[in-house]
Amino acid sequence: MNNFEFKNPTKIIFGKDTIEKLSKELPEDAKVLMLYGGGSIKKNGIYDQVMNALSGRQVIEFGGIPANPEYAILIEALQLIKEEKITYLLAVGGGSVIDGTKFLSAAAVFDGDTPWDILTKNIKTKNGMPFGTVLTLPATGSEMNSGAVITRAETIEKLAMGGPGLFPEFSILDPQVITSIPERQLANGITDAFTHVLEQYMTYPIDAILQDRFAESILQTLIDVAPKVLKDPTDYKPAADFMWSCTMALNGLIQKGVPGDWAVHMMGHELTALFGIDHARTLAIIAPSHYKYNFEAKKEKLAQYGERVWSITEGSIDDKAYAAIEKTEAFFHKLGIDTKLSDYTKDYEGAAEEIAKRFTDRGWKLGERQALMPEDAQKIVKMAY
Ligand code: NZQ
Ligand code: ZN
Repeated sequence: MNNFEFKNPTKIIFGKDTIEKLSKELPEDAKVLMLYGGGSIKKNGIYDQVMNALSGRQVIEFGGIPANPEYAILIEALQLIKEEKITYLLAVGGGSVIDGTKFLSAAAVFDGDTPWDILTKNIKTKNGMPFGTVLTLPATGSEMNSGAVITRAETIEKLAMGGPGLFPEFSILDPQVITSIPERQLANGITDAFTHVLEQYMTYPIDAILQDRFAESILQTLIDVAPKVLKDPTDYKPAADFMWSCTMALNGLIQKGVPGDWAVHMMGHELTALFGIDHARTLAIIAPSHYKYNFEAKKEKLAQYGERVWSITEGSIDDKAYAAIEKTEAFFHKLGIDTKLSDYTKDYEGAAEEIAKRFTDRGWKLGERQALMPEDAQKIVKMAY
């Protein structure tokens, strides 16, 4: 196991009817900007629950943060924060609203030339404006981590940011919120969380038995609850397991002391930037090709995953590893998620070259050994056509 340091300061308030506890978490004199997305919270009652909990508080709203939070819209919110002298941010939404709020938390205290520098110059925020979240969509883990991903239509880019000052102070996780989530987004959430675990697990053996077992247990739980959640999102028990699995998949715990890959995400983000494909679906497009392309480097962990998660007992290490990739792809298909780029767009020719060019321009090397060069990414994306 590698050496590590671990600090996660986010307070989790988990369970039925927990949104009513919101007010207690905010400072008495806070001037709050409540941020939300395209309006689902107004239809499903979450908006009313939040506003009831905030009665008597100084609250201003900013709605309209789109899926894949758009920089230009966030800049409008930043102006509001400055004009209204906001002191506290509250995200009510999924990963997009929470990530947008993290960007604002960083941008509100940033004194460089342009807030876009936070993304392009990899500026790590040490102390952002404080914020909390009410999670409405289990998927990204953003509710308990310090990372964010921001999209900019003007430059067709989607870039990551973060820093130790960008953990939410608290996150309220009421599994009942999933009742109103469309099937497509539920499938996305399962796929995203599943791939988060794979990114931190599907590397090479490093004798971190506990981290392996943590990762495998999250994968097993997601496989177990997926059909139940899709069949009946009003069933509280699987909803609770689903929600907590998504948070645990990316709150830093399973990454400690072990190598991380994250190449699937880096390639996937480009597919969202270029084609607007849902984040989770880009991962399902890239992951099978990525594991096949890097088969030799990853086959021991692939085989272990095959044995422990998919109960594959027959054959050699290579056989088990290969069968594990096929099981993974079949799992995505069962969720209704297509795994080829050509299933989503007819304009895929040239995508692999464009992505390789972007990675070259940024000087990126990817993977757990930083050995994956832009030309490798090009081949992987081509395999995924
Ligand atoms: O915008 P509204 O109207 O709220 O509708 C949203 C949106 O259309 C809807 N939704 C959310 N909660 C709902 C609901 N509909 C009905 N009932 C509810 N309770 O779902 C749609 C998708 O929402 P979004 O927030 O975009 O989804 P998700 O949580 O999957 O977030 C995706 C974004 O997070 C980034 C992705 O790249 C993408 O931009 N990620 C963030 C990460 C992080 N911060 O750690 C890690 C991830 O790997 C990922 O990259
Ligand atoms: Zn993800």
